[in-house]
Amino acid sequence: MDRGPSLNRRQLLVRIAGTVGLAGTAGVAAWAGGVFDGTRLVGPTSDAVARMEAARRRAGGGTVTATLNPRPVTLDLDGQQVQTWGYAESGPGSLIRARAGDLLRVEVLNSLPATTSVHWHGVALRNDMDGVPGVTQDPIAAGGRHTYEFTAPDPGTYFYHPHSGVQLDRALYGVLVVEDPRESGRYDAEWIVVLDDWVDGTGRTPDDVLASLQAMGGHGDMGGMSGMNHGDMGSMPMPGMSGMAMGGMETMTSPLLGGAGDVTYPHYLINGRVPGAPVTLSGRPRQRVRIRLVNAASDTAFRVALDGHRLTVTHTDGFPVTPTTTDALVLGMGERADVTVELGDGVFPLVAAAEGKGGQGMALVRTGVGGVPNATVRPAELDRRVLITAALKASDDVALDNRRPDRLHRLVLGGSMMPYRWTINGATFDKLDPLLIKQGERVRLEFVNETTMFHPMHLHGHTFAVVGGGARKDTVIVTPKQTVSVDFDADNPGQWMTHCHNIYHAETGMMINLAYQA
Ligand code: C2O
Ligand code: CU
Repeated sequence: MDRGPSLNRRQLLVRIAGTVGLAGTAGVAAWAGGVFDGTRLVGPTSDAVARMEAARRRAGGGTVTATLNPRPVTLDLDGQQVQTWGYAESGPGSLIRARAGDLLRVEVLNSLPATTSVHWHGVALRNDMDGVPGVTQDPIAAGGRHTYEFTAPDPGTYFYHPHSGVQLDRALYGVLVVEDPRESGRYDAEWIVVLDDWVDGTGRTPDDVLASLQAMGGHGDMGGMSGMNHGDMGSMPMPGMSGMAMGGMETMTSPLLGGAGDVTYPHYLINGRVPGAPVTLSGRPRQRVRIRLVNAASDTAFRVALDGHRLTVTHTDGFPVTPTTTDALVLGMGERADVTVELGDGVFPLVAAAEGKGGQGMALVRTGVGGVPNATVRPAELDRRVLITAALKASDDVALDNRRPDRLHRLVLGGSMMPYRWTINGATFDKLDPLLIKQGERVRLEFVNETTMFHPMHLHGHTFAVVGGGARKDTVIVTPKQTVSVDFDADNPGQWMTHCHNIYHAETGMMINLAYQA
């Protein structure tokens, strides 16, 4: 039984506008469990969702329990104490580890002075556990609690974060590793490496950053810039904004990605640490190490390299690819990659350079004696072969079979800096009708980027195949003026967000609902 009243379209839009997007997180889903334009939708609490969940459990699968306590914390950035919100006292929330087919039961105790939620990024889980306030659940009240309980069907590297406002740009993220019960360990050790761009507690909160981005559009002091599209000014210095939320007098462009970001960050972190006080990853020479890389940043793509080493990419967004060796790897926000390295002897900087921005995160790989490299060291590998994950090929066992799409949705990505808004098909989330799909269909999404900025486009609840190489992913970088098409099978009923994983873009409109119709 689908829940919720049938609403007419006008009521729907009114309710949507007041619930999700643009910082609003109160109330229940508008279309979730409801009707859109006379079409009945599959709601998060429908029978179809419960049936799918039953099919996901692995016989003999275990139960993994965890508690998350989002709360105000103090982060020590090499002596600078910053107040923020996190799941742990320092750095990322605790690692959650399960095996494919296990049941996860995660209790969330919200000690933040704000509502929150937890989204399980990349996991093809039951729709009512997807963690999108206003769509799949009510927000978790300040002081409130909520239990997430779902089966994780596919092995891989995932992460969790709030789907509430710009909370992701604080320390509210953690990694979820789902192990493959059938996998034979072809590596000796495993490291988790989480990348982040950092501003909170340094004089501005992420909410301040968002407010200043939006205020720019409201002020008439930008002389002649008003209404200009990002397409015309992707790399232009922003007069009057020096050192503020915008690029200031810097030009933030990347030869690979175009406009490199909207926010200037004072710090870039690896596992919660700045380069001046880096985390040390210890191993022994000649060990084969699997590094699970997660880009948990809000506005920054990273170019990752390990000095003196080559990286062999084996997985992206959890799914295996034809192993591909490279010197450096670019990861957009929300993307993950598993790479294997064979360790040399000594001390080596693992560097995540903020693509197109200047500044970097750094960790140390130590297998022997050697001095600590300077925090600004730049491994030569960063400027050799550079790989973008969309270029990877799916490994045979996870490749989507050849099938013509039953349905095509075109998502034209647009936006402007003044006013600061990001759009899909010319509209912001609060004004966008859901994109309808049906269970059993092969669906193609065509991301058409008309801006001069890259957008890491993320789909909830499914892992698509990038048309071309076929790499299975849930987040794919769409570079300026390019089109990236992705295919997926509609096999997970419910209401699913599709959005840019630049959190400032998503929050100001670049998000749409992909809705299963009943
Ligand atoms: Cu990691 Cu809807 O996002
Ligand atoms: Cu974007």
